[in-house]
Amino acid sequence: MTTMRLDDLRQYSDVLRTRNGEVVTVRFVEPRDAEALQNYFRSLTTRSRYNRFLGAASELPPSLLEDFIHIGEADRFSVIATVLVDGRETIVGEARYAFDSDTAAIEFGLSIDDRWQGHGIGKALLKNLECRAASFGATRLFGDTLRSNDAMIALARKSGYAFTATPGDWKLTRFQKQINVEPQEIPCASWRLAAVSPSAMSSLAV
Ligand SMILES: CC(C)(COP(=O)(O)OP(=O)(O)OC[C@H]1O[C@@H](n2cnc3c(N)ncnc32)[C@H](O)[C@@H]1OP(=O)(O)O)[C@@H](O)C(=O)NCCC(=O)NCCS
Repeated sequence: MTTMRLDDLRQYSDVLRTRNGEVVTVRFVEPRDAEALQNYFRSLTTRSRYNRFLGAASELPPSLLEDFIHIGEADRFSVIATVLVDGRETIVGEARYAFDSDTAAIEFGLSIDDRWQGHGIGKALLKNLECRAASFGATRLFGDTLRSNDAMIALARKSGYAFTATPGDWKLTRFQKQINVEPQEIPCASWRLAAVSPSAMSSLAV
């Protein structure tokens, strides 16, 4: 397994739009983001954190924070969605995804800052994740959410996901989607990375 080089990655950020057209940048998490990322999770409402982590948590446990900032390890990746607020880069969302080469599937979870929910960022980030998944050669994307999480269920349904029972946990439901993304349809950083350096992507998947 090869960890992606951060100096290579900085150029690979994506620009998404909120429903109102505001610019949202999506980029890989870097070690320098650790404090801001932890502050982001602390600032989520208790309910949003519960929904994100499928249980009570006031912040990211240190070991998980370490995992978040070391992207590429064990084929797990973290991205943050940021906007400029008064000229300062501010985290408004995050997603973490893991590639399983045996099943050609990507599992993911995401969250959006409560103050930015309902602006279309979750929907745009989900599309971006589909492109990232396709760049690995993944054919399926899935996640698990609490059956009580109306917002995630609505987002997944409107984004074309189907629902099944989550194996082994009746409180959860699994949303999943077959993906068939053409590069030009949804440009994303990892697709460009794969295009310019096929060896970089293949080294990630071993
Ligand atoms: C679930 C979550 C990511 C949605 O992100 P978001 O940016 O608010 O969602 P969007 O604004 O992109 O909305 C996408 C669609 O879902 C629908 N939706 C969003 N929140 C909804 C809610 N509370 N109830 C019903 N529908 C909702 C919207 O109507 C929208 O549909 P439209 O495009 O047809 O209008 C966000 O609520 C969140 O971060 N929740 C806490 C963490 C969490 O639950 N993570 C999921 C764990 S896997």
